[in-house]
Order: sequence, then structure tokens, then C-alpha cells
Amino acid sequence: MDVITVNDKQEMSEKASAILFNELKRNPDLVLGVATGGTPAGTYNKLVEKVLAANLDLSEITTVNLDEYVGLARDHEESYWHYIYTHLYEPLNLSPDRALVPYGLSDDLQAECTKYEEAIQKVGGVDLQILGVGRNGHIGFNEPGTPFKSKTHVVELTDSTRQANARFFGHKEEVPTQAITVGISTIMESRSILLLASGKEKAEAVKALLSGAVDQKWPVTVLNQHPSVTLVVTKDALETEEDSYNDQ
Ligand code: F6R
Repeated sequence: MDVITVNDKQEMSEKASAILFNELKRNPDLVLGVATGGTPAGTYNKLVEKVLAANLDLSEITTVNLDEYVGLARDHEESYWHYIYTHLYEPLNLSPDRALVPYGLSDDLQAECTKYEEAIQKVGGVDLQILGVGRNGHIGFNEPGTPFKSKTHVVELTDSTRQANARFFGHKEEVPTQAITVGISTIMESRSILLLASGKEKAEAVKALLSGAVDQKWPVTVLNQHPSVTLVVTKDALETEEDSYNDQ
């Protein structure tokens, strides 16, 4: 794993967007796996700036969202369809025809998971997967304990994840209780992975990853078995409370 340590979130976004921009320049029909949430938002903003400044044509790329809440319509402001539309497609003036996002309003969620997995295979799999990490080590919405062989599936979100995402919805009770997520084995099939981590609340998860262990209790640690991972991490995400206490 390549580890790039940066001072703060802004530098993380700069670094990550530069990596993405170079990949997109090299491969105009890249299949890009996209995470949502707070961590990659600045990266997408900076990527958009770079793409517009260079007049790079991204009309041939495909994006594959990692997850979607169950029960939210696509035009709901907190749906992940809406997130990727407003962070990438709208500012780049691209039609979202090639944006794959699980359909959270499907009346047959199992069938939707199977369909999504097939859709990923149909576009040839993910070339470059952007990932964030949850405080509890989740990737996508694969919560602790998810089998590493999992494919796209429906998950019950943990209390800690709903609490963490309450900041987007105003109140925890507004956060959906379920989501569809790409599974861990699907993530592991991506040809390369760009993992972003910022903020001290991610330090326990980053520590578990960097310990080199592979443990289902910390889903992110599965990435220790992936041949091509780049981690861009802020300094504060490298220091757990225990580490800072021991430093005093
Ligand atoms: C979102 C996703 C999640 C987030 C994680 C961290 O598509 O897959 O795994 O990356 O919950 O969220 P933030 O970045 O908001 O701290």
C-alpha cells in the first residue's frame, strides 16, 4: 500500500484530485467507483475545477456508486444519486446516463442487488475505486462483521453510522435504517483503490488498517489483501486518542 500523509483535508483533496485527474486523462473511458459522504466532497470539487480548466472530455466515463440509502427518492437531497449528480455530473454538464447507482426505492431489493452486481460486470468492473472509511472501519456500508466474500447486498445501518450521518439529515431519526451497498468482494475486484481518510475520528480505523492485520471486525483491513491501494491520510487521522495520551 502506498501511504501519502498530508497536513489537512484541503491538502488531501488536492492530492486525491490530482491522482484522479491524471487517471482520467490517461483513460477517458475509466470506470470510476465513487464514494460519497463528507470525505471525498472536496476532492470532487477540486477535480471538477481541474477538468474544467483543462477542458477534459469526461463524457465516456462511467461512475459506479458504492451505495445508496433504502427509501430515498433520487431527487432527495441526501440520496447518493443526488450527491454524485450535484458533485460531478451537474458541474461538468454531463448527462447522468452513465451513472450507476443502486435504486433505493426498488420494491424488490434483492433483485436490485443482483441487477446492480450484473451492471458492474457489464461495464467491465471498476478500474479505480474511491473509498472513504467509517469510524467503525466500514467501507461502502459494509459494517463490521460483514463477510469478506459479500457481493452487493442490503444492510441494516448501525447506530454509530446513523449517528455519524445525522449531520447531513439534521437528526439521527431521519437517517434511513437500511442501505444497499456494493459488497466487500466486489470492492476487492476493483483494479485499484484510492482510500481517503481525514479527521481524528477515523484514527482507530486507520490504525487497524496500518497494523497490517486482516480482521472482519474492521472491514477496511481487507484492503491489506489488495495489490494496488493508495491511502491519502491526514496527520490527525494517524493519531488515535491513546497515541496522543501516550505522547504527553
Ligand atoms: C459513502 C460510503 C461510506 C463513507 C464513510 C465515511 O458512499 O461508502 O463508507 O465513505 O461512511 O463517511 P464520511 O466521509 O462522511 O466520514
